[in-house]
Amino acid sequence: MDCRLGILGFGFMGKTHALNAKAIPGVKVTAIFSVEKDKAEIEQLGAKFYADWQKMLDTEKIDAIVVATPTFTHGEMALTAISKGMHVFLEKPMERTIKKCKEINVAAKKKGVLLGMGHVLRFDGEYMTIKDQVASGAIGHAKMARCTRRGPPPGWSTWFFDEEKSGGAILDLSIHDIDFICWLASKAPKRVAAMASPIVLGGKTLFGISHVVLDFEPGPGIELGFAEASWGAVAPYPFSTAIEVAGKDGLIACHIPGKHPMETYSASGCVTLNLYAHDGYYNEINDFIDAIKERRPPKVTGDDGMLAVRVCLAALESARSRNVIDVEGFA
Ligand SMILES: NC(=O)c1ccc[n+]([C@@H]2O[C@H](COP(=O)([O-])OP(=O)(O)OC[C@H]3O[C@@H](n4cnc5c(N)ncnc54)[C@H](O)[C@@H]3O)[C@@H](O)[C@H]2O)c1
Repeated sequence: MDCRLGILGFGFMGKTHALNAKAIPGVKVTAIFSVEKDKAEIEQLGAKFYADWQKMLDTEKIDAIVVATPTFTHGEMALTAISKGMHVFLEKPMERTIKKCKEINVAAKKKGVLLGMGHVLRFDGEYMTIKDQVASGAIGHAKMARCTRRGPPPGWSTWFFDEEKSGGAILDLSIHDIDFICWLASKAPKRVAAMASPIVLGGKTLFGISHVVLDFEPGPGIELGFAEASWGAVAPYPFSTAIEVAGKDGLIACHIPGKHPMETYSASGCVTLNLYAHDGYYNEINDFIDAIKERRPPKVTGDDGMLAVRVCLAALESARSRNVIDVEGFA
C-alpha cells in the first residue's frame, strides 16, 4: 500500500517536498495545508487542500506528515501529528527553543513513531562526498572544518526577519553548517564562541551576519569548526556556500557555485569528484520514506535536530553576551 503523506506548509520548502515526494514510487501526497492562494496549485498536484491544519490532521488518513511551516510553529504541529500516531519529517531548525525540541523528541519516542529531520547537507552529494573522503582518510586526520553560507535575505516571507520566530541567521542559516560540522566530528562541540552583526530587515533588527567558532577540543576527529552565515549579500550576488576541511595530509575544498565544486588535495595531487546523484532535498524525503518502509530510524533523527538547535542557541547567547558558552547542559 502507498505511504499516505500529508504536508503542512506550501511555501519555499513545502512545495519542494511536495514535488519530490510525488516523484517517489509508493508515495501518495494526500493532503496539503496552506493559505487559500495556494489551493489551485495544490489541487493540481492531486492533493486535497486544507486551510486549517488541525482539521487536516483530524480528518485525513495519513501515515506520515512533513512539517514545512515557520520554525516557531513546528512544535505544535509536530506534537499534534505525533499524538495521532503519524511519523513526522520536520524541517530544520527543529524548533525555536530547546524546551520545544525536547517535547517533540520525547513524544515521538514515547509514541513509537519516526522523527526525521531536514538537515539537507547530510543528504547533499558534495557534502556526503566530503564525509566519505574524511572517513576514508583521504586527507589524514581531519582537524578543522570551515564553512560559509551567504546570500540575500530570505525575502519570500517576513517571519524570517523576526528573531523571536526564526532565530536569525545563526539558527536559520548557519544551522546547516553547524549540523554538518557536528556530523563530520561525530560529536558535539564542548564550547562555542560567536560574534554577530545586527542588520535591519523588514523594519526589524536581528543578527543577520555571524561568525561561530566550535571548540571540539584536541583529540581524534575534528578539533575546530567555523561557520559564517550572512543574509547581508545584495542580489544579484548568488546564494553561495563553501567548505574547507583541513587535515594532517591534505585539504578538501568545495565552493558552490564554483568551477570545480569539490576538490581533494593531498600528496598524490588533486582529484575532483562527487559520488552521489540526486539533490539533497530529494534524498532526505526518500530516506524518510525508506525508513518508514524498512522500520528503521531515519538518517537524521530528533536527537541530531535537538543538538543542532542547542549549539546554535548557545552561539546566539555567545553573540549576545560576548562570552564563550559551554554547550553541554545549555538550555
Ligand atoms: N532546508 C532548507 O534548505 C530550508 C530552506 C528554507 C527554509 N527552511 C525551513 O523550512 C521551514 C519553512 O520555511 P519556508 O521558507 O518554506 O517558509 P515559507 O514562509 O515560504 O512557507 C511557510 C508555509 O507555512 C504556512 N504557515 C503556517 N503557519 C504560518 C504562520 N503562523 N506564519 C506564516 N506562515 C505560516 C504558510 O502559509 C506557508 O505555506 C522553516 O523552518 C525554515 O527554516 C529550510
